[in-house]
Amino acid sequence: MKIGILLFGTKTKVSKESLYSSQLVKKAILARGHAARIYYSNDFQYTFYNSRPGLLYRSKRFIPPDVLIVSANILSNIDLHLALVKQMELMGVRLYNSSVAIARAKNKLRTIQVMAHANIAVPKTLVVTDMNYLDAAIKELGSFPMIIKLAQGSFGSGVSIIESPRSLRSILDLVGPPSENQRNHVLIQEYVREAKGKDLRVFVVDGKVIAAMQRKARRGEFRANVAIGGSATAIEITPEETIMAIESSRILGLSVAGVDLIRTATGPKILEVNANPGLRGITGATKLDIAGHIVEYAERLFDMTKQI
Ligand SMILES: Nc1ncnc2c1ncn2[C@@H]1O[C@H](COP(=O)(O)OP(=O)(O)O)[C@@H](O)[C@H]1O
Ligand SMILES: [Mg+2]
Repeated sequence: MKIGILLFGTKTKVSKESLYSSQLVKKAILARGHAARIYYSNDFQYTFYNSRPGLLYRSKRFIPPDVLIVSANILSNIDLHLALVKQMELMGVRLYNSSVAIARAKNKLRTIQVMAHANIAVPKTLVVTDMNYLDAAIKELGSFPMIIKLAQGSFGSGVSIIESPRSLRSILDLVGPPSENQRNHVLIQEYVREAKGKDLRVFVVDGKVIAAMQRKARRGEFRANVAIGGSATAIEITPEETIMAIESSRILGLSVAGVDLIRTATGPKILEVNANPGLRGITGATKLDIAGHIVEYAERLFDMTKQI
């Protein structure tokens, strides 16, 4: 088989973390006897000849691989970037994750809407669009500290802890009133104190949990992200957590997902679901062949659909 990996950006501009993960996947592709190729989004041009959606890659007609693994290493201009994935879908390219699943996962407000609709527990959250309602929102949510997050953020950046009404107001001033901040919604969320700086990262591929780790924030930090110094260890998760992780990936439409769960006094809750979970932390903590699982799904997808 020919299996491709799509990275967003140019060869020289992709982050070290994304390059590392895609190299692991490439090795897993080759180890299974397939051909591997990495594509960079900036080298594509879209064509509409005879009204048909098509693509050029490095100025030549794009001949799709048998399966394309989309590494959604997109941090901004998500709609713009996802138009490429959409174009490929319109051309009938076998790929995952899909553009709509990535769009849902990349926006924490949208994720939480989908979760709430499916009755999956999330921390108590409020989204304000006008500062006149800020005081009411603070009262509604209850006690400080609170968490404030940008709808589009990753690696812990865009997530802050607010100790008092005074600091909440000043940070919202810094971000800009949400209704005028076209780039981002602002989520105000209850702080799960009892988690003590820990959360779970559950890796789901094709509807199965293939690995899980607990992450612990470093001293003086509440965010457990490995990218900002959190430490990771393999962990057994409960059946309830397993079901939550699988269900949230399924309803978002993600074939590969990194589900962030937090253990609270009232049971596990979903923090967010990542469409492009990094492989370094989870591979290091669990010693499992995560990239291998991702590639095996490409093989299954090909087998399931090649006759059609
Ligand atoms: N409501 C919360 N209560 C306690 N800690 C939280 C809460 N929300 C996020 N965190 C911590 O901050 C980290 C980053 O938040 P997350 O929502 O996963 O955003 P990001 O996309 O930046 O990873 C989490 O891994 C968790 O450790
Ligand atoms: Mg996270």
